Amino acid sequence: MTHNHIGSEGLPRFPEPYWRDSVTLPTFQSLQEDLEVDIVIIGGGITGITTAYLLVKEGLKVALLEADTLLNGTTGHTTAKITAQHGLIYDELISHMGRTKARQYYEANSEALQFIKQTVEEHQINCDFSQQDAYIYATTKECVHKLEQEFTAYQQLHIPGELISHIPFDIKIHKALSMKNQAQFHPVSYLTKLVQLIVESGGLIFENSMAIDLEEGTQPTVLTREGRRVTANYVLSCSHFPFYDGLGFYFTRLYAQRSYVIAVKTEKEFPGGMYISADQPTRSLRSTTMNGENIVLIGGESHKTGQGKDTLEHYKALEAFGHEVFGMNEILYRWSAQDLVTLDKVPYIGEITANHRNVLVATGYRKWGMTNGTAAALLLRDIVLKRENSYIDLYRPSRFFINPSLKEFFEQNLDVAKHLISGKLEVPDRKIEDLTNGEGSVVLYNGERAGAYKDDNGQLHIVDTTCTHLGCETEWNHGDRTWDCPCHGSRFSYTGEIIEGPAELPLKRLQ
Ligand SMILES: Cc1cc2nc3c(=O)[nH]c(=O)nc-3n(C[C@H](O)[C@H](O)[C@H](O)COP(=O)(O)OP(=O)(O)OC[C@H]3O[C@@H](n4cnc5c(N)ncnc54)[C@H](O)[C@@H]3O)c2cc1C
Ligand code: FES
Repeated sequence: MTHNHIGSEGLPRFPEPYWRDSVTLPTFQSLQEDLEVDIVIIGGGITGITTAYLLVKEGLKVALLEADTLLNGTTGHTTAKITAQHGLIYDELISHMGRTKARQYYEANSEALQFIKQTVEEHQINCDFSQQDAYIYATTKECVHKLEQEFTAYQQLHIPGELISHIPFDIKIHKALSMKNQAQFHPVSYLTKLVQLIVESGGLIFENSMAIDLEEGTQPTVLTREGRRVTANYVLSCSHFPFYDGLGFYFTRLYAQRSYVIAVKTEKEFPGGMYISADQPTRSLRSTTMNGENIVLIGGESHKTGQGKDTLEHYKALEAFGHEVFGMNEILYRWSAQDLVTLDKVPYIGEITANHRNVLVATGYRKWGMTNGTAAALLLRDIVLKRENSYIDLYRPSRFFINPSLKEFFEQNLDVAKHLISGKLEVPDRKIEDLTNGEGSVVLYNGERAGAYKDDNGQLHIVDTTCTHLGCETEWNHGDRTWDCPCHGSRFSYTGEIIEGPAELPLKRLQ
């Protein structure tokens, strides 16, 4: 473990998740030849890896292509609570989709939790899996009403839960809603074991192999950035933002939300359990062990990607909260990541559009992908094997509920349009000469908007800030030293390389 030095702001200098630093991950070569397989899976996060594990177990020939390295996407940066308590959701699902679908959502996620538990037991996976109760708490009177409504929804859906007045640590709360017997784990340890099992069963895994396009047909073919072709009976897009979007469906129906996590040693003992606030700003808490010692993960500060304040401020807000509640000895790690949200808050899992029977997608978990990603893997397996699955309609990507989807659709796309235009009209007031070492900013460069970062050695890296996806203007993310797009969440390094899609081309360098 190499957790990095503390920088001038009192935080670890570079963002790095504890999960990835505490496990030695296997490495895989990039795809060097054309392939023909039964199933090609794009993306090596919890969805892609779990799906590959399930399908090789069924005797299918599976290839998994990962653009970067395995588990370096959102799954490597999660907080890894495994629960069907997804914040306040069931009351809303009942009013938008009815009781049957709301209950199904609970069942799909509870079954996913049970699947993870059984898999851990079956393979004796050493991944700190432990049963924990989950709590949503309200610190304001306004939110108490919402918790009461959610509790009523639990009763209507027969979800075991309790409305209580105390949680076991020093936050002044009005009420909390519990869901018993949920769980937490070390996600990278768990999935590293599944990777080993995939390889032992003959599954093929390729890293640094980005899928950039798809040729449709009875046997679709995935094309990689390096010009390789993988032909299969089914293509499964588990790439977070879908790597292929035949009809432009997903760009208008998904948006990215970032949040922040710090891992800390605390003065007060963490009492167990997993917590999330119902009020804003969100605060999320759980503990884990590091070298036999308890450490606490404090998460929260969500905002739309590319639209927040100075991102270091988000870490500082979490630090202040930690000091107040637990007293803090040391911040060991900090990291941030984003997840995708759909119009009606239920993931899109199934045929990518109604016309594509052999191209499937799984995305939009709204920061609850440990269970939703696992439920997705189980559903994708059943679709491929033509088995019955009760959740096909619930998750079907082509569903459309007038309320809330229509309102969200207009709001999201108005927001994208706003950023598309406002970024172009903005005249930056900073110049390259203003930057100090370690600082990045939008600047005026040769009379145009550009992005400049001056690294610790004083070297300048200047890029065209126009996102190569659909042309919105990216914004500087100070905490991660990246250029983030406010429209669909693409992210680029300060040298312009792609970190996260949907963009498939780097930002143009201007030097
Ligand atoms: C801060 C934070 C905290 C969270 N906490 C929780 C929690 O406590 N509990 C919970 O249930 N959920 C939580 N979530 C949500 C959860 O982590 C995600 O929903 C889940 O990890 C998404 O998994 P995935 O497999 O879909 O995507 P990812 O893990 O992002 O995997 C997708 C992979 O696809 C690759 N890829 C992308 N494009 C291509 C391409 N063109 N070709 C090849 N590969 C490609 C990427 O490199 C990536 O490795 C949290 C999310 C965040 C941001
Ligand atoms: S314009 Fe779509 S991600 Fe940037």
